[in-house]
Amino acid sequence: MSWTEPSPTGTALLLLGRGSDPAAEKGVDCPGELPAPSDPDLVARAAAAKAALGDRVFVLGHHYQRDEVIQFADVTGDSFKLAREAAARPEAEYIVFCGVHFMAESADILTADSQRVVLPDLAAGCSMADMAELTQVEEGWERLAELGIADVTVPITYMNSTAAIKGFVGRHGGVVCTSSNAERALRWAFERGEKIFFFPDQHLGRNTAVLELGLSLSDCVLYDPHKPGGGLTDEQLRAAKVILWRGHCSVHGRFTLDSVKEIRERVPGVNVLVHPECRHDVVLSADYVGSTEYIIKALDAAPAGSAWAIGTELNLVRRLAKAHPDKQIMFLDRAVCYCSTMNRIDLPHLVWALEELVAGRVPNQIQVDPDTAYHARVALDQMLALP
Ligand code: 13P
Ligand code: SF4
Repeated sequence: MSWTEPSPTGTALLLLGRGSDPAAEKGVDCPGELPAPSDPDLVARAAAAKAALGDRVFVLGHHYQRDEVIQFADVTGDSFKLAREAAARPEAEYIVFCGVHFMAESADILTADSQRVVLPDLAAGCSMADMAELTQVEEGWERLAELGIADVTVPITYMNSTAAIKGFVGRHGGVVCTSSNAERALRWAFERGEKIFFFPDQHLGRNTAVLELGLSLSDCVLYDPHKPGGGLTDEQLRAAKVILWRGHCSVHGRFTLDSVKEIRERVPGVNVLVHPECRHDVVLSADYVGSTEYIIKALDAAPAGSAWAIGTELNLVRRLAKAHPDKQIMFLDRAVCYCSTMNRIDLPHLVWALEELVAGRVPNQIQVDPDTAYHARVALDQMLALP
């Protein structure tokens, strides 16, 4: 069984982010005239604009980006690799980030003030990052302070969070983590405190605490920002080792135990490989779990003829299937599921952004305010320095 390719549409997804959504992490208006998606010269235009910019531009592409965009990336990677790559390019005047808003924010924080980070479509946000707002997190922390346990709690935020949350974590002696280093981040935190407050992905937090650190499910509690006091009693908060924020990824959250059962019935011997943003029961029933970089390496190392059902974003799974025609590579779920916000970055937006840069204008610059950036950088640098 494999996924059903959606029929191509004449227009790219949600071409312009019009209107504003103050509750969202992502940006709003996308100014300017986009090239028509049907323009047959889009590939040539992107190549010409990139060539004209030369070393002045560096294009980063997250693994979940569309093929039409990935072909122009100077480097591809998961959030961790891309953060490191952005930090390692002091010579590039412009970093064009083909990914989502929180990643571009991190790149802005990690690069020099003179470097400009561009997100080709400002509406490329992340629903998970939107699930933790600074005021909510501050409220939760206050609750811990009232109970006298904030001092023994180390905050950790997943990379998939706003710069404001990263800044909060930096101010309170914590660290940022990604899906490739969450285990190291949790171990680092437990050397410094007795408890962890983990934002915003409950699944990555739970999967890491239980499967990597050997804690029990009952050591973890779920803090719901929409309930008074997080929906937890004082005793629950005092007893918990890991307080998980109630957030999740809308893409990885779709995989269920039934998806795993079904694929095992249909494809005997299939290897199930999932991202740690998947629910705990899905991860438990899988054969392997790891970040996007881990998934790519696992498939590179897999023997010809082996069968793999992958629980992660569809653009990556499709690319892996193309790259490994000698292996049977399937999407874990019956229903196709792209990350709709990752998909906002399409070729017309990339062409537009590059051509604007050629014309001497900097479109959709992502700039984090200096105070937030300072504290977020503390937490990001701590992540980059994790043993
Ligand atoms: P990684 O790139 O860290 O694997 O995270 C996946 C993801 O959901 C990015 O938005
Ligand atoms: Fe956010 Fe999930 Fe999309 Fe990643 S895949 S950008 S976590 S919604």
